[in-house]
Amino acid sequence: MRAVVLRGRCDIAVEEVPDPQIEAPGDAIVAVTSSALCGSDLHMIEGRIGPDAGLRLGHEPLGVVTEVGSGVSRVRPGQRVVAPTHVFCGTCDMCARGYSAACLRVNPGRAGAAYGYAGMGDYPGGHAEYLRVPFADTNLVTLPGEPGDGYEDDFVLLADAFVTGWHATELADVRPGDTVAVFGAGTIGLLAVHAAMLRGAREVYCVDAVPDRLALAERFGAVPVDAANADPVERIRALRGPTAADPLLGGVDCGIDAVGFQAKDRADWSRENPSQVIDDLVRLVNPAGRLGIAGVFTPADQAAQGPAREGRYQIPWAALFNQGVRLGFGRTHDLRYTRLLRDLVVSGRAHPGRVVTRHVGFRDVADAYLSFDRREAGHVKVVLRPDAR
Ligand SMILES: NC(=O)c1ccc[n+]([C@@H]2O[C@H](COP(=O)([O-])OP(=O)(O)OC[C@H]3O[C@@H](n4cnc5c(N)ncnc54)[C@H](O)[C@@H]3O)[C@@H](O)[C@H]2O)c1
Ligand SMILES: [Zn+2]
Ligand SMILES: [Zn+2]
Repeated sequence: MRAVVLRGRCDIAVEEVPDPQIEAPGDAIVAVTSSALCGSDLHMIEGRIGPDAGLRLGHEPLGVVTEVGSGVSRVRPGQRVVAPTHVFCGTCDMCARGYSAACLRVNPGRAGAAYGYAGMGDYPGGHAEYLRVPFADTNLVTLPGEPGDGYEDDFVLLADAFVTGWHATELADVRPGDTVAVFGAGTIGLLAVHAAMLRGAREVYCVDAVPDRLALAERFGAVPVDAANADPVERIRALRGPTAADPLLGGVDCGIDAVGFQAKDRADWSRENPSQVIDDLVRLVNPAGRLGIAGVFTPADQAAQGPAREGRYQIPWAALFNQGVRLGFGRTHDLRYTRLLRDLVVSGRAHPGRVVTRHVGFRDVADAYLSFDRREAGHVKVVLRPDAR
């Protein structure tokens, strides 16, 4: 079968590899119908989070079950399914509490695993014609409809992006009536906006410097804030000020980082500043506010010098303490959210597929990755369709 392989820095190829096989009684094989590209892949493609050469990319797969092991009882061949990014066992002490991204059994010596990701276990990625899914009864979420129907783009976003956007609002504890600022209008930021609206936020601001991404944020109901031309904190405070109950409450109740360690420096957008977003969020959040950090931070940034190389950054700790701000971090716990979000999509309440801006086949996937890495217009969310020409 064909699969997308990362050979080295910015070197992506489509290779012929052996078809996956059932290796354990709990496995299933899925024929992939859609597989989304993700901002998390870009950290590896740029060589910042080091994969071993030959890593098979893709952690956002949707498809149809073709084969199941003898121990699988819930999913059957022919069923349409999404496989959440983070592989989990469903029964360990973390999974039993719903913390599936910290599963104790799928990545020896570490908590948590994922398809197609450096350091996240030996699970070849889903940018392929077929994918082996371990612990299939718990990992596979069944879906209605047929491949290629009107839900195809909505459902592929259940593998990671919508779930992570929702998780970000959970980390920031977004409640009805809250004011929210989301930094980053990539897919994660946009779907955090969508999630915040679904949870009843009264005002949502979305900060970025890429025009087509800001336009999408507006379509999801956010006030777009262009970070290229002004200080977004001052801009949001100016917009909020007249309606705030007290001048000290002219910031936001909840802030979300949907950017991560490769944040751009606002003084010079061609440079990075891993503390930029947390600095801005600390200046913007109201007393007793909540921050959700869904952007990735790595303990081994191969391009950084000094403490940042080990993921140590300057954080305004005293301001956080004195404002009584709550902080939440981390990867999304798919087990807690995927079915809920599927049901929001099927009921017509949620439309995450609106972030998809391009579909590609294997022929164009490498170019699409490089365009996405440059944040070119039309590359907010790209979806690989293995059967497309
Ligand atoms: N927690 C999880 O489980 C999880 C899952 C998926 C992705 N992620 C992470 O979420 C982050 C976003 O992913 P994505 O797919 O949306 O990526 P993306 O690269 O498409 O989007 C990031 C956006 O941030 C913007 N940005 C950069 N610096 C900024 C700044 N200083 N202020 C405001 N905006 C800024 C960029 O212009 C870009 O539009 C990545 O770090 C990714 O690794 C985390
Ligand atoms: Zn992803
Ligand atoms: Zn587990």
